[in-house]
Amino acid sequence: MKKADYGAPGKGGISRLPGRADKHMGQAQILCYGEIDLDIYVALNRLPTMALSAWCSEDFENIGGAAANSAMWLANWGLPTRLAGHDLGDDRPGDVVRELLAEQPLLDTRYIARHAGYRTPRCQCLVTPDGERSFITHWPEEVRMTAPSPQMFEGVKLLNLDMSGPTPLRLRAAELAAERDIPVMINDIYEPDHALLPLIDVLVISADIVRNKHPASNASDLAAALMSAGNCDVIVSNAAGDIEIFSRSGTRELVRPPAVKPVDTTGAGDVFKSGLAYGLLQGLPLGEAVKWGAAAGSLMCQFAGTTKTLAPLSDVRDLLETMT
Ligand SMILES: Nc1ncnc2c1ncn2[C@@H]1O[C@H](COP(=O)(O)OP(=O)(O)O)[C@@H](O)[C@H]1O
Ligand SMILES: [Mg+2]
Repeated sequence: MKKADYGAPGKGGISRLPGRADKHMGQAQILCYGEIDLDIYVALNRLPTMALSAWCSEDFENIGGAAANSAMWLANWGLPTRLAGHDLGDDRPGDVVRELLAEQPLLDTRYIARHAGYRTPRCQCLVTPDGERSFITHWPEEVRMTAPSPQMFEGVKLLNLDMSGPTPLRLRAAELAAERDIPVMINDIYEPDHALLPLIDVLVISADIVRNKHPASNASDLAAALMSAGNCDVIVSNAAGDIEIFSRSGTRELVRPPAVKPVDTTGAGDVFKSGLAYGLLQGLPLGEAVKWGAAAGSLMCQFAGTTKTLAPLSDVRDLLETMT
């Protein structure tokens, strides 16, 4: 399969962002397909143990899930964005999610289904004073998703996937994109023989996840193996540390994220992908687009919750300017 070009001005693929007049719901530039839920942010002084309770200083609900996090930040920056994947229930959390999504005029949610008697997916994000987070995912085995369809790709120039839900649905989404020469971005594939990898153009992996879930691997070696296996660009984010870029053309680059004091790192990787996607859709080369990702990810870490505060594009630009 010939993969589409992205971020290469003059080579076709993704064109520059449209003018304001072109921005309307039917013309989404990006499809974020995957996880959507209602998160419960819980600020704790420590994680609880049998012996020691944790104290909660603040809690609130906000939209979460990888696809929703990426999509809400992008739509808030003025990029017409389509969000689909997880379905919602007709319960109170489902109402809250729908109301919050409806506040974004550039977010197309027409393919998010709602089912009577179904429990809207939820997740508790337990955040400690160092900004790190642990999750409690509610009823993951009940999750229902709307299958990707050709209509979802209308106007779309980039597909943003996450690893939530059944693989066949993500494979279908990536195949539909490939049939239309639409590049595909995904995060968190750690197996070089993963069926999705040949359909991917940009893969973002997390050094923390390699350390915690694949301790036998070294993140850089794994990234190089994933890049060769998938013939895709691989980006390794590493919390506050340097980001490594392994481009399929053979170059390697490092990007240092802006130094910030993290309050809540929930969704850092998702909003990193928002910045990266925004950069690629402007036609920036990969290394420059990764800087957008780093600025967006670091910016988001300074707010409690992932979508309660959606910082404007001007704040991303300000942070970008502090980067070397
Ligand atoms: N502790 C942190 N301090 C500063 N920036 C952070 C921190 N954690 C994450 N970020 C920002 O978010 C990006 C993605 O974070 P990372 O933790 O690597 O992803 P994930 O959420 O997938 O584990 C980083 O490249 C960085 O820009
Ligand atoms: Mg992290």
